[in-house]
Amino acid sequence: MPEKVLITGGLGYIGSHTVVEMIEKGYEPLIIDNLSNTTVEVLDAIEKITGKRPQFEKVEMCDPEEMDRFFTANKGIKAVIHFAAALLVGESVEKPVHYYWNNLFSTINLLKSMKVHGVKNIVFSSSCTVYGNPDTLPVDEQAPFKPAASPYGNTKKMCEDILRDATAAAASDLKTISLRYFNPIGAHPTSLIGEVQHGEPHHLVPYITETAMGKRDSLKVFGGDYDTRDGSCIRDYIHVVDIAKAHVYAIERQLESKQKQDYEVFNLGTGNGVSVLEMIHAFTNATGKEINYEIRPRRPGDVEAVYADTKLANEELGWKAELSVEDMLKSAWDWEQKQ
Ligand code: WQD
Repeated sequence: MPEKVLITGGLGYIGSHTVVEMIEKGYEPLIIDNLSNTTVEVLDAIEKITGKRPQFEKVEMCDPEEMDRFFTANKGIKAVIHFAAALLVGESVEKPVHYYWNNLFSTINLLKSMKVHGVKNIVFSSSCTVYGNPDTLPVDEQAPFKPAASPYGNTKKMCEDILRDATAAAASDLKTISLRYFNPIGAHPTSLIGEVQHGEPHHLVPYITETAMGKRDSLKVFGGDYDTRDGSCIRDYIHVVDIAKAHVYAIERQLESKQKQDYEVFNLGTGNGVSVLEMIHAFTNATGKEINYEIRPRRPGDVEAVYADTKLANEELGWKAELSVEDMLKSAWDWEQKQ
């Protein structure tokens, strides 16, 4: 009997790619999503890719009664992967109260229902934003949290604190794994799922692909005077499919009782830092498309350089990113051409 795993936000960008990998590994993912940042068409795409249509229910996780009704109606859930969150850095600066309410209250409601219904395993979608501007690079999981540059980043830190305390509580039998993503980019090789943009893209790669499509006149490179090899910011870009696969490893670790601590954290990156200008050149190498760009002033809140120490995830979780920057950018370009 396939093991039931609840995937909150499972119709979102990383959630949908994870649902595909979970199905292909023989699990039975159950999806809840409030559809605030996605559509049910993603479910059709998942079915086309896998040949299976996972159970989906529209649930507002900030409504305790809705959350509990779902768990009461769906017994036998072995673990939860918690993606559901508002995730736009810029929007979180404009609407901080919404971000704290949505991201924290949904997590608290989830934990309360998991406790009532005896669900003991959770994998949490965290972020490298908790590291801020790290003191040393590559950054490992022991690096201290830094003041968040945005309410969004702060909600990730606060959710990790909530999960750590909930796991450590005396009567708790909770097992938690927080996965700290670096910069997820790209799309599924079928181009049936990917990162849907609503209006002008905030992130670098969708802005590059929209510029290549002629939807944008040119790419603004935010800052050319950083203390880096070419003056532009450095990030650890990682294929969304590699990120998705890591979640399967984390769930297997929990369900096969291989967790060594009740609360574990893993960085999900490639370990390679790539600059904005290098990404532009890599995109041209991968697709043949030239990108108009101009160096503009720095974007407030940007980190100068951050990339992962992946030793723990490689050795302990047994997971390693396999896809190259060119694979990532080619898949992003293929997805863009389907929009
Ligand atoms: C990358 C670089 C920009 C747009 C994101 C998420 C965060 C976390 C990590 C998961 C920066 C530069 C961008 C543009 C540019 N993800 N840039 N022109 O800010 O690293 O963070 O990934 O949890 O939640 O926000 O990603 O793609 O916005 O920026 O020059 O038009 O590209 O300055 O140096 P970021 P990003």
